[in-house]
Amino acid sequence: DDPANDPFSIAAMAAFEIAERTGVKQHDIALTLGSGWGKAADLIGETTATIPAHEVTGFSKPALEGHVGSLRSVLLPSGKRALVIGARTHYYEGHGVRRVVHSVRTAAAAGAKVMILTNGAGGIRETWTPGTPVLISDHINLTAASPLEGATFIDLTDLYSARLRAVARGVEPSLDEGIYTQFRGPHYETPAEVQMAKAIGGHIVGMSTALEAIAARQSGMEILGLSLITNLAAGIQKTPLSHEEVLDAGRSAEPVISALLARIVAEL
Ligand code: 6GU
Repeated sequence: DDPANDPFSIAAMAAFEIAERTGVKQHDIALTLGSGWGKAADLIGETTATIPAHEVTGFSKPALEGHVGSLRSVLLPSGKRALVIGARTHYYEGHGVRRVVHSVRTAAAAGAKVMILTNGAGGIRETWTPGTPVLISDHINLTAASPLEGATFIDLTDLYSARLRAVARGVEPSLDEGIYTQFRGPHYETPAEVQMAKAIGGHIVGMSTALEAIAARQSGMEILGLSLITNLAAGIQKTPLSHEEVLDAGRSAEPVISALLARIVAEL
């Protein structure tokens, strides 16, 4: 049952189990909630089923505190069904990229047409104080990895849907946009690497999302990406980074940005 072996059948199997356990045949949208975004699960609608993620085929045990390992089926006020993924496998865990994108492929197999990817990340723009939400407009994948193999030359134009970004800005006109740069991690970048990211056009540095977005596009989903700036990147902020600080910033911003995400989901 390792997605590394046969990723799409393993995802289909996971989607089947989710349908069985939630009693919901089709989920319409899926959300991956990264650090700082978790409360959105409670705000978007009524949770009708919760499954510990590691009980579903292909999902790993959570590696990190602050990453709650559950899958929820949520009934939205519109009557649509959301699959909320509170379990993310990061590329830096070293289990391979197929494991990283398993949740996205499972969401697609569960019927989701819209994939909302959220994360906590470092900011390169000095005006972004911790707690600022930023819409992802595009990405630069610096992991040297891809979830695709073989002759899958897919197009990544408008990867982060302009339509969905417009919906989000309709809800919150002050939302900034930025280009997300995915590094492998798990160490934070050096100040020189942050300057490189800035020089090549990046505004946000993080350790997730880009690989997931590529897999979501391959599966034909429309993608909305949101970063919570938990801190400024190394060398931009003058003090050293600490994971504790990043988690704290996520926790303090959580009520406000989770409410923002819930308002966006209501407009989809
Ligand atoms: Cl500064 N870098 C990366 N890669 N991920 C982060 C971060 C920085 N801050 C929060 N997450």
